[in-house]
Amino acid sequence: MKILAIESSCDETAAAVVEDGWKVHANVIASSLELHKKTGGVVPEVAARDSALKIAPVIEKTLVDAALSWEDIDALAVTNGPGLLGSLLVGIEAAKTLSLLYKKPLIPVFHIAGHLFSNCLERPELPDFPVISLTVAGGHNDLYLWKEKYSLQKLGTTLDDAAGEAFDKGARMLGLSYPGGPALSKLAESGNRNAFRFPRPLHSSTEYAFSFSGLKTALRYELENQGGLQNIAEQRKADLAASYQEAIVESLITKLFRAADEHAAREVHLAGGVSANTRLRECFLAETQKRNLKTRIPAKMIYCTDNAAMIGSAAYAMWQSAKSVPTESFSFEKVQVDLSHKFRF
Ligand code: KG4
Ligand code: ZN
Repeated sequence: MKILAIESSCDETAAAVVEDGWKVHANVIASSLELHKKTGGVVPEVAARDSALKIAPVIEKTLVDAALSWEDIDALAVTNGPGLLGSLLVGIEAAKTLSLLYKKPLIPVFHIAGHLFSNCLERPELPDFPVISLTVAGGHNDLYLWKEKYSLQKLGTTLDDAAGEAFDKGARMLGLSYPGGPALSKLAESGNRNAFRFPRPLHSSTEYAFSFSGLKTALRYELENQGGLQNIAEQRKADLAASYQEAIVESLITKLFRAADEHAAREVHLAGGVSANTRLRECFLAETQKRNLKTRIPAKMIYCTDNAAMIGSAAYAMWQSAKSVPTESFSFEKVQVDLSHKFRF
């Protein structure tokens, strides 16, 4: 089954063709990142206008790259939330129009389910359940228990900022350019991660909640303590970046593996933009080796950050799990924006 999927929940406008949930025929991503560098963050109106300009050429290029025509496509899929309202509407309206025009079913997909399924791309075999999956990005930071094929349970989320947001805001305080995550991670490479001791919020709590806003404040105080950014030597800035990154990574890793132990996971997954972080990957792999667990991190870096291939993969699972005849459940008339953070199969 070939699904043409569309993703436009934030600053990416993307489309992909995915067969049977794993085989990627084409994966096109246009980003409005350059526009947001000027403002140091995503301005929703700017992102939505840019998506409106790019959506049609992105879909057209996807079919060309896949060397397929509309007759070859069995269904459409689109991210219907959570995300930025204006950006989501661009993708949803494009998908509805195409669904009406070409008489294809339309599968609405929860964005975070897309990230969870990014670990199924290019891997035809199912994971070894139960799986604990951490999806960690700029707009979301969730821990899921994946019990079996169509059974996902959210264990915890962030009480304030997501880890990607903590990276981005920390980077801005350190005078680094947007997006801050990759820039801070690069600077941290030459720093000492034990130079400063930043807080590990909710570290000893047995809940699976995360919190990163206090950490951000701690960095601000430390910068003031050091006499302000302009008075801090380059090496000291690298030490601050490495120590700050270490606090984020340790918070994520602690909860992820506590959940893996509690639920006797056989496999653990990382997903979302922050899963591109080298230090997070290093700690993740070290902990899995200690426990002899199987692991999955998205097969390619482009599957870590927002993309439509992951939406195509999640859509296939939703299609397969549909209780009634799938074509009846997935009609374009029923698809609307859903800004809640609730996922259901
Ligand atoms: O999944 P994504 O593209 O968008 C959301 O759904 O939010 O993730 C983007 C986030 C940004 O906060 C970015 O700074 C972060 O992922 N990120 C990183 C790295 N690469 C991207 N954070 C830390 N280290 C990285 N190497
Ligand atoms: Zn995302």
